[in-house]
Amino acid sequence: MCTGRIDPQFVLKAFEKGADGVLILGCHPGDCHYREGNYNALRRFHLLKKMLDQFGIEDGRFRLDWVSASEAEKFVGVINDMVKKVKALGPLKPAPPLPLSKKKGRGDIQAEAHG
Ligand code: FES
Repeated sequence: MCTGRIDPQFVLKAFEKGADGVLILGCHPGDCHYREGNYNALRRFHLLKKMLDQFGIEDGRFRLDWVSASEAEKFVGVINDMVKKVKALGPLKPAPPLPLSKKKGRGDIQAEAHG
């Protein structure tokens, strides 16, 4: 499949289900069969990375890289590097519950946002 098909929810779901890391590998820029799938994936990746950072998910747990079918050595290298980084980070710690997860009225949320 094309990296352009990757919905950010797939990544969030993987972390939610207990993945310690998520690695997305796609065709090199300019080589996407669907022309712009990997460019779309790259844009989503940067947005998602910022969001994951807000959730406290460390930088090394989410990676996007380009590897063609003829680059076996690079493929192995990227996988080994990702595994090494995720092992060094250890298991993903569950995030503390968000304060908004409690049932509150709209006014309560606005009051908290403004101090
Ligand atoms: S076919 Fe789109 S990234 Fe490979």
